[in-house]
Amino acid sequence: MTRNVIVIGASKGIGAELVTLLAKNQSIQVLALARKIESENKWEAFKNVQVHNLDLQSENLTAELQNILSNVSNVDYVINNAGYLVNKPFLDLSREEIMESYQVNVLGVMSALQVIIPKMLPIGGHVVNISSMGAFQGSVKFAGLSTYSSSKAALTNLTEMLAEEFKDTKLKFNCLCLGAVQTEMLSKAFPGYLAPLTAPEMAEYIVDFTLKQWKWMNGKIIPVSLSTP
Ligand SMILES: NC(=O)c1ccc[n+]([C@@H]2O[C@H](COP(=O)([O-])OP(=O)(O)OC[C@H]3O[C@@H](n4cnc5c(N)ncnc54)[C@H](OP(=O)(O)O)[C@@H]3O)[C@@H](O)[C@H]2O)c1
Repeated sequence: MTRNVIVIGASKGIGAELVTLLAKNQSIQVLALARKIESENKWEAFKNVQVHNLDLQSENLTAELQNILSNVSNVDYVINNAGYLVNKPFLDLSREEIMESYQVNVLGVMSALQVIIPKMLPIGGHVVNISSMGAFQGSVKFAGLSTYSSSKAALTNLTEMLAEEFKDTKLKFNCLCLGAVQTEMLSKAFPGYLAPLTAPEMAEYIVDFTLKQWKWMNGKIIPVSLSTP
């Protein structure tokens, strides 16, 4: 049976690698949701990938996602991969930067899940939220990342809350707190730092976790990190 996987934040970095890896599995239908869709679709060769435009900051997010999913009867897996990072001293953050961080990193995810979860409830599924080591309780913290890390911490907590609220269903919610991975976002957070993992390497772990680990855990916050940061 074909399984439907939604990847939110699919345009580049880890998200793009998630789509490429998932697409290699013919039993999976991938819905790649990206804020920016490039004119050249990098997954054109894969018949099991559909790319749609979705901006988590859109005022019409709910309606736009409902429209994208109008012909999708069931969703099996969701990877909430989108992330927005501002690296600035706390006192210099604008209200806009704070609002945008929270909108992409947690509020948009909440709106998206309100649309997606009803399509998962009948047969069950796994929601994987991609957070950060900076949002993991007790981890080493870095100045300049207050709005990014605190909004990702809200996503981490949301995972536990949804696991509790849906515990009597066949839905599972888990959260991966990633350490450093070589992407554009890492260069913004830690300029010049060389991460021990590439985006394809991290994507390999996330895909495996998403497709398999729901059998063994629910509501778990898992650090996935080789280094500090
Ligand atoms: N790289 C690391 O070291 C690291 C560490 C910890 C956690 N993470 C987390 O891992 C995830 C992937 O990060 P990455 O390193 O691959 O970063 P990235 O290369 O900057 O990619 C971030 C993705 O999020 C998307 N996004 C941003 N704003 C969006 C919006 N408004 N609506 C929809 N999508 C939006 C981006 O789309 P656009 O191209 O349109 O901007 C892009 O596809 C993020 O959640 C990040 O917080 C990464």
